[in-house]
Amino acid sequence: MVSTFPLVVLALSLLLGALYTPLDSNGTFASQKAMKAALVAKKLLMVTAHPDDEAMFFAPTILALNAKVAAGEIEFALVCLSNGNAEGLGVTRTAEFKHSADALGIPANKYWVVDHPELEDNMTAYWDPNVIAQVLQPYVLDLDIDTILTFDETGVSSHPNHKSVPAGVQTLIKNLGETSSKPPLRLYTLVSSSITYKYISILSVTLGKVDVYGYRMMRRLENYIIDVLSIWYTDLLNPTFPRHPDGHAMPEFISGYEGYSKALEAMQAHQSQLVWFRWLYVAFSKYMWVNSWVQLSVPS
Ligand SMILES: *[C@@H]1O[C@H](CO)[C@@H](O)[C@H](O)[C@H]1NC(C)=O
Ligand SMILES: *[C@@H]1O[C@H](CO)[C@@H](O)[C@H](O)[C@H]1NC(C)=O
Repeated sequence: MVSTFPLVVLALSLLLGALYTPLDSNGTFASQKAMKAALVAKKLLMVTAHPDDEAMFFAPTILALNAKVAAGEIEFALVCLSNGNAEGLGVTRTAEFKHSADALGIPANKYWVVDHPELEDNMTAYWDPNVIAQVLQPYVLDLDIDTILTFDETGVSSHPNHKSVPAGVQTLIKNLGETSSKPPLRLYTLVSSSITYKYISILSVTLGKVDVYGYRMMRRLENYIIDVLSIWYTDLLNPTFPRHPDGHAMPEFISGYEGYSKALEAMQAHQSQLVWFRWLYVAFSKYMWVNSWVQLSVPS
């Protein structure tokens, strides 16, 4: 019988190796638009629903984008649409949000916690897309935002407040599109995983990396095929519209152990929310490690 020991050691070392360094899909919300222009996000606005969403769900993205902010490549800001006042803790949770933002490295002049009577933290209420659009519009215009990042229609945890946000952003994009000649705002949503994948924590790191490296390998293969074919079809190498290399990559952000510990620190800032099952969450949730994004188009 073959010993399984070497296999276990191999698996463990792959896993631990994967946890060591962060990785992202490089394209940072790039896409190849219908007009063939390559669009790359420069001014990003993240929209969350409650204080602690930024730490629980979005930390890998925030941390990766911070590095790009520091390198002067992009600008990043965050709007949290409610102060989490469901249990009358709005003031406390706003203060906790500030500590969390601090831990994640978002400067104080780059985030806002909204307190709006029609956007109340409520486990059963859907928020009106028109109110969301109206609240977000000044931020988007003042900061000259080109890309918005938020929850998808499942909202990771199926919280109706989360689920309301993408429709609100779509409404805003539609409203702005009618008055502006600039390329329309782009909306990316955080992919909600099925329950099994949601709680596989560090395994998701390995899977996420396989995904990113797999995409890069496919791109190399594609380039190789183009090189070969261009022996006969010379214009393949000089396309009319330059291709963006990452135009079709799924934006993916994977934290290393350092990123994970920053996310933990941010979670700990939310003292009022740290009931025991939150600790299970931080131990097993993939969102503490991996964020995958998909572009959501705006129905016309
Ligand atoms: C990342 O993107 C830059 C600019 O598009 C490119 O030069 C670089 O080769 C890319 N890196 C990888 C690993 O794809
Ligand atoms: C939460 O929303 C539900 C349904 O929209 C409503 O009936 C309820 O009064 C709200 N709760 C609070 C505390 O506002």
